[in-house]
Amino acid sequence: MNHFLDIHTTDAKDLRSIIDTAQAMKTARNGRPKGTKDDDQPLAGRMVALIFEKPSTRTRISFDVGVRQMGGETMVLSGADMQLGHGETIADTARVLSRYVDLIMIRTFEEATLLEMAEYADVPVINGLTNRTHPCQIMADVMTFEEHRGPIADKKVVWSGDGNNVFASFAHAAGQFGFDLTFTGPETLDPEPAWFEYCAGKGRPITVQRDPVKAVTDADLVVTDTWVSMHDPQSARERRHNQLRPYQVNEALMKHAKDDALFMHCLPAHRDDEATSAVMDGPHSVIFDEAENRLHAQKAVMRYCLGV
Ligand code: CP
Repeated sequence: MNHFLDIHTTDAKDLRSIIDTAQAMKTARNGRPKGTKDDDQPLAGRMVALIFEKPSTRTRISFDVGVRQMGGETMVLSGADMQLGHGETIADTARVLSRYVDLIMIRTFEEATLLEMAEYADVPVINGLTNRTHPCQIMADVMTFEEHRGPIADKKVVWSGDGNNVFASFAHAAGQFGFDLTFTGPETLDPEPAWFEYCAGKGRPITVQRDPVKAVTDADLVVTDTWVSMHDPQSARERRHNQLRPYQVNEALMKHAKDDALFMHCLPAHRDDEATSAVMDGPHSVIFDEAENRLHAQKAVMRYCLGV
């Protein structure tokens, strides 16, 4: 059994195998109606718990559909409706769930909750986002880049905006898949020092460039995310907007990237804040491919976790 807790804590060979499996499974389904099952049914007879302590559209639906396509069943649970939200310990919850289900996916606030769930569960646990990282999203993003442009190794990836949890998983992917990552954003919203140390240790130090035009120059991929994440207080909204406005991804900024550069956003987006609609709906954008590939990448993650 394998947990899938983060990109930097998963073996690089396994990450590559997950991407390859995801692409093969996507190709095998080509043109098939979404509600139909795959030819392979590796999750037949398996029950998957999908626990959400935060809102979700993509993660919730793509995991649910993915399990069903592979022949399994799901139960979608709100943390607030479980005893988890009323004082039962995470360790006890993990032990109990392990008696009922074969796999647990959890979206939660604190990374400590995810790690405790994994420590006490007898079944694999998947990180569906914490305040600190979002590995399933970036597996889908790596898959999406490679689908459009071939190997991501040695490409220039530029993150414009807040050094948040999605950036963190991009940093982990830079170390594991071997691409060059540039961060452009205000100093007040810099990523965690730990991610700089991690990438430097992997021989892929993160470049920091405060000038977004210089940062984006010759980029193969430009990425941004919402300026106010789910775990940020709404009281910080105006301050963050003021700090991040110079880092908006718009057509003028994208002109400095390579002609064939891609644009990504994990969604949900606040259109015309962090990225303009002209970019989101423009020729560089692959945002809906990213969303679709959550489904395929996570199916491969689940197979990895269960060894099926
Ligand atoms: N990108 C992402 O995780 O989307 P949801 O919050 O809708 O799941």
